[in-house]
Amino acid sequence: NEGDKRALLRSSVREFLDFPSPGICFRDITPILKDPTAFSAAIDLFESYLRDHFPKIDLIAGLDSRGFLFGPALAQRFGIGFVLIRKKGKLPGPTECVSYSLEYGKAEIEIQVDAVDPGQKVVIIDDLLATGGTMAAACELLKRRNADIVACLVVIELSPLKGAEKLKSYPVHALLQYD
Ligand code: PRP
Ligand code: ADE
Repeated sequence: NEGDKRALLRSSVREFLDFPSPGICFRDITPILKDPTAFSAAIDLFESYLRDHFPKIDLIAGLDSRGFLFGPALAQRFGIGFVLIRKKGKLPGPTECVSYSLEYGKAEIEIQVDAVDPGQKVVIIDDLLATGGTMAAACELLKRRNADIVACLVVIELSPLKGAEKLKSYPVHALLQYD
């Protein structure tokens, strides 16, 4: 059941203090990928959330780089496509770019302008929501491309950083919350 799946996921997340910089407690999701049962549990939980709340979706957009690990598997469950939102300078052809700050730095992300058609219903996925800077930048990017943003999904939400407050107008769903 869903409780067991969440418990398995929680037991699969490791923490590393002072990575990548002093004072940061880094939540490492790599053991979820190493264990196929845990990985399936994550995709199952995302799928059932979307089927219950947003049955009509056209596209999943994943955030560079750890959103790429979960997004394609989820898109396959719905028989829909996956598109990449990447750190600046990685995508060829015409792109749209926004800059943002995150828990431990600053960056710019971009999307190919033909990735999303106007009005398409898009779900954004990443591994983790910290300050919400990255997810908010992704929302801004997709809004500029006239996408209809349906929901923002993450495996982990670091609740004290209040990232969800930055995304007020969009539903945020986390499989796990950490204090
Ligand atoms: C991490 C994480 C999220 C973001 C969350 O990615 O995977 O994308 O930070 O932080 P925020 O909510 O404060 O914006 P990072 O930029 O470290 O890139 P990576 O996935 O390539 O390691
Ligand atoms: N991205 C931003 N903050 C993070 C954290 N504390 N652990 C893992 N990824 C992160």
